[in-house]
Amino acid sequence: MSEDIKKGLMGVTVDETAISKVMPEINSLTYRGYAAQDLCAKCKFEEVAYLILNGELPNKKQLKDFEKRENKERKISKSLINAIKSIPKTAHPMDVARTAVSIMGLEDKDASNNSPQANMRKVMRIFAKTPVALAAFYRARKGKKIIPPEKKLSFSENFFHMCFGKVPNKDIVKAFDVSLILYAEHSFNVSTFTARTITSSLSDIHGAITGAIASLKGPLHGGANEEVMHMMNKIKKPENALKWINNALDNKDVVMGFGHRVYKSGDSRVPTMREYFGKVAQIKKDKKFEKIYDIVEKVMIERKNIHPNVDYPTGPTYHLMGFDTDFFTPIFVISRITGWSAHIFEQHAANKLIRPLASYNGNQHRKVTQLNQR
Ligand code: SDX
Repeated sequence: MSEDIKKGLMGVTVDETAISKVMPEINSLTYRGYAAQDLCAKCKFEEVAYLILNGELPNKKQLKDFEKRENKERKISKSLINAIKSIPKTAHPMDVARTAVSIMGLEDKDASNNSPQANMRKVMRIFAKTPVALAAFYRARKGKKIIPPEKKLSFSENFFHMCFGKVPNKDIVKAFDVSLILYAEHSFNVSTFTARTITSSLSDIHGAITGAIASLKGPLHGGANEEVMHMMNKIKKPENALKWINNALDNKDVVMGFGHRVYKSGDSRVPTMREYFGKVAQIKKDKKFEKIYDIVEKVMIERKNIHPNVDYPTGPTYHLMGFDTDFFTPIFVISRITGWSAHIFEQHAANKLIRPLASYNGNQHRKVTQLNQR
């Protein structure tokens, strides 16, 4: 492979962004200059969604208007509900998510309008409706009645309400809210870059977000939080963990929930999510997964010097909250719609068609022989 190829665009800076940055001086991910940990401590997810989409934290009135807009857009169409009911129960919820966004695109009166105002209107509809569509599938595939969104509930409360028919205690809701804040945005990760690439041809926002969802599904990216839970279920109990992880490393397996392209000495989001994982485990009086978590982490750092990423603590946290494992990455989606959308706006504002080069290593020129001579 020729020396100037950067496979996976490793270490390549392809554009500017003002949305987020991992600031080494404070070892923290920041959204529009605010440290994610600070936002988790002082804000609810809706404030951070507003910040990422608009560039500033909302004041009381702006937040109220934003929440009113999001509440108003929650209702999904009858045809989308019928489509969800007809989807095979065995479908992966990530495929349901991208299908639902595509159907929303077919129904959206602004679909082919890429003006900033129209795009913001569409984002608010995708942001508000995707959780409702996912929760509808969550219930439909279990043969349960679909629960419509509840206007007076917050974004996080409403998701619990639509999936389970009830809102858990405020500490569980806060932990869920924190996970959404931490998942919201992370610069040019592969699903965000997918959204920007689709946008760069001036295609529409529903297509860009559909593509981003497809990318996020992969186990090397957002799908890792589900794989973490599959790993923990295979380990079963803390006394199996040491042997299991050492075998995995002896077999040169990729251990899900660990490693990162950008963070090489630890994902700055992990300490906060680990703290809330502990709080939820305390409330649920189930410390088993925490014990497995700590043993696997210790071996990964000692043997490979590879640290956990944000998917490692979120997996078991969502499990303790009662979500089906294959719904963990869809939860990542309902948060990351904010980051993807902000990047789509940014790409439109200073667009250049994204079209890299390839180094050819195929056949040299040769003449075609007629079929009867081949
Ligand atoms: C997310 O980019 C983002 O910002 C993404 C994200 C976001 O918010 O959008 O942060 C969310 O996607 C987090 C990552 C979730 N993925 C996983 O947990 C999957 C497991 N992780 C690995 O696949 C890996 O760490 C990647 C893909 C995440 C990053 O790997 P790189 O940068 O492509 O590096 P690499 O795969 O070439 O690994 C370098 C070395 C290799 O060893 P050698 O071949 O050099 O001997 O480290 C090893 C790898 O084998 N390695 C691992 C490992 N991660 C790296 N070995 C075992 N288990 C792992 N998890």
